[in-house]
Amino acid sequence: MDKSALLEKLKQEMVTDQGLPLTESNLVFGEGDPDCRVLFIGEAPGFNEDREKRPFVGRAGQLLRRNIRDLGWREEDVYITNIVKRRPPENRDPSPEEIEKYKPYLARQIEILSPEIIVPLGRFSMNYFLPEARITRDQGKLFRAGEYFILPMLHPAAALRGNEVMRLFTETFKKLPAALEKVSRGDSVEVKKEELGVVKNRLEDVQGKLFG
Ligand code: URA
Repeated sequence: MDKSALLEKLKQEMVTDQGLPLTESNLVFGEGDPDCRVLFIGEAPGFNEDREKRPFVGRAGQLLRRNIRDLGWREEDVYITNIVKRRPPENRDPSPEEIEKYKPYLARQIEILSPEIIVPLGRFSMNYFLPEARITRDQGKLFRAGEYFILPMLHPAAALRGNEVMRLFTETFKKLPAALEKVSRGDSVEVKKEELGVVKNRLEDVQGKLFG
């Protein structure tokens, strides 16, 4: 089965999974190129995403997508999704239980996509890979988690709320092509072990390295 078919099968499994919370909202599975090199992962869909059944289509999404295009990339060439794939009521933060229930599906989605770099947007998504990391301290650093490279970024919604966060968000975004090149050249970045704990869902052996 090719990647598109595997993703479709996974999506259908989610549609019929009665154990998943938030089923009063639409499923927002994710979109983009199944052969993507870069995978962006947000928290959970909001009002606009629920309505359109597409991730990151509101104001924060427009900021994310503009930054992707500003790199000279096409939105269709990356993949965009969320940990929790249905909208929590009133756009509240997803609860630990909701994250826990949706996590196995994200793990399988990542396995199918097998991107070169994963960009968690905001702390919820970052902590999925790097449980001990702190977003303000660790955004913009390139980490290795098992076979994956992780470049955590601030959430674009936070960037919309403050100039300094916007500056950091944009600055980190611009590092993405160089990080991708570094990873795909297989440069063995000297990796410094950090106290980041063990990543679940097969992403073990977390190592971190300051990037740039
Ligand atoms: N915020 C997120 O984390 N995800 C979306 O899809 C939209 C806003």
